[in-house]
Amino acid sequence: MEKKILEAIDLTRLPRHVAIIMDGNGRWAKARGLERTAGHVEGVNTVRRITETASELGLEYLTLYAFSTENWNRPQAEVDALMHLIVVAIERETPDLIKNNVRLTMIGDRSRMPAEAMRRLEQCMADTSHCNGLTLVLAISYSSRWEITEACRLIAAKAAAGEIDPADITDATVAANLSSAGIPDPDLLIRTGGDYRVSNFLLWQIAYAEIYVTDIYWPDLDADSFGRAIIQYQSRERRFGLTSEQLQ
Ligand code: FPP
Repeated sequence: MEKKILEAIDLTRLPRHVAIIMDGNGRWAKARGLERTAGHVEGVNTVRRITETASELGLEYLTLYAFSTENWNRPQAEVDALMHLIVVAIERETPDLIKNNVRLTMIGDRSRMPAEAMRRLEQCMADTSHCNGLTLVLAISYSSRWEITEACRLIAAKAAAGEIDPADITDATVAANLSSAGIPDPDLLIRTGGDYRVSNFLLWQIAYAEIYVTDIYWPDLDADSFGRAIIQYQSRERRFGLTSEQLQ
């Protein structure tokens, strides 16, 4: 990261958790007359770069939206290519993840994952489970509505079994039944590719996240642009529904 940018970051006030909607791979490829898949291949390099940057800065959690529930409906060849890329990249990077003390974890609907891809992802998660630096959370086969619906089903089943009184259900109960249970809410949500949407991503968890949208396509996002997002985050006043005066 450029020295000037690094120096502008207050390392004592880092976001604990940054979540990213990695968008623009297709457009990056199209602009170069390449197949969409070439954008995803280049996007994997950005995953590596941004994970390294986040880890070096000392962030606790980085969540990347790698594959949405809706992505299952893309042309089969692109679905296969994305799944293959994710699994191969994770396997290839596992030794470096361990070296950098990065723990890999996943949120999403495991039941829809191809068995072989799931087995290999589980292996990588097990291999990094002892790491206690950055936690890299991959959202794969993930959508927020799926996750919230699933939580409702789990809580309803517990209520039907008499394990929980409906009157005792709080927002903590809901949070504890999401696939992100145990992970703090994101402080900063970054979206690349310029669209102002949240695309069914962490809808419950981003209730008070600061949102940062950049026009840069995901394959072009570098450490400097990531640093600029953090600087912008640190310039915001997070009020959590209170007044400015109350925060003083
Ligand atoms: C959105 O771009 C991006 C995706 C649907 C996939 C992102 C996945 C990767 C970068 C690979 C992830 C790899 C690992 C190891 C986690 P788009 O295709 O929607 O782009 P467009 O909006 O320009 O069409």
